[in-house]
Amino acid sequence: MMKGILLAGGSGTRLAPLTAALSKQLLPVYNKPLIYYPLSTLMLANVRDILIISTPRDTPVIERLLGDGSHLGLKLSYAVQERPNGIAEAFLIAEDFCAGKPVCLILGDNVFHSQDLLRVLKQATRPGQGATVIACHVSNPSAYGVVTLDSAGRPVDLVEKPANPASNWVVAGLYFYDSAVHSIVRNLRPSERGELEITDVNRAYLREGRLNVITMGRGTAWFDAGTFENLLLAGQFVQMLELRQGLMVGLPEEVAYRMRFISAEDLAALAGRMKNSPLGDYLFSILK
Ligand code: DAU
Repeated sequence: MMKGILLAGGSGTRLAPLTAALSKQLLPVYNKPLIYYPLSTLMLANVRDILIISTPRDTPVIERLLGDGSHLGLKLSYAVQERPNGIAEAFLIAEDFCAGKPVCLILGDNVFHSQDLLRVLKQATRPGQGATVIACHVSNPSAYGVVTLDSAGRPVDLVEKPANPASNWVVAGLYFYDSAVHSIVRNLRPSERGELEITDVNRAYLREGRLNVITMGRGTAWFDAGTFENLLLAGQFVQMLELRQGLMVGLPEEVAYRMRFISAEDLAALAGRMKNSPLGDYLFSILK
């Protein structure tokens, strides 16, 4: 069974003063804490054994929110990243946790919503594949890791935040690796900005011909809620969809029930704990 890492640290300086006392990943995206969305995505990938990594300040607060995950049919554990030394450092911190199993990493500020998502997650979690990353088409590729694809959709190049991007396809914050990832990271050197770069990990797999890229279709919404604008846009998107459809986006309790991680009785108990919130009413309505 694939292991999961939810990386929810970082300094959050781009969102100051919102993050002066609170973790970015606990800020609201409409009616839920931001971290609920990436957690739900991992659950949809059928990943149930998850290590949450955050800062010395924020890890205990996130643990207060999510606990050991048993109420969601999950096994959640926690680890601290002392400093924001880069996304790839997660694999040094998580090496014992992964115990040689394949692993999926999601960034705690990435919100995915797509008709395509279940198909993509199924494809990406098939065993024996090296590394698999998800590419999304965006208007501002320079802010991301940019991937160049050949006519068959195979990756030919990968560059972190290029000034002159070669394409509009960027790598989203959801990555799937075999157990080679740990030794790759151990051999990485920090970049000019002093971080262990996830793009360098992916470039190592690319050099070995072991990097797969799955492109998401255009009916996909992907946000990294790391700026004021994107945080608000993600919230507006969730609000619009939920009001129109009457179905919630990124609610772990619902996902746990639909994925059969918990029973109807379990869900009723969770709904009861939120009975003064519209989210509690919603969970009761699912059971009807
Ligand atoms: O969102 C996708 C992008 O994420 C990719 O396209 C880029 O290739 C990748 O480098 C990354 O770019 P960002 O500039 O958005 O990364 P950022 O430094 O903002 O970190 C992303 C999240 O990871 C952020 O919520 C904080 C967390 N983080 C980051 C670092 C560097 C940590 O928990 N620890 C860290 O050391």
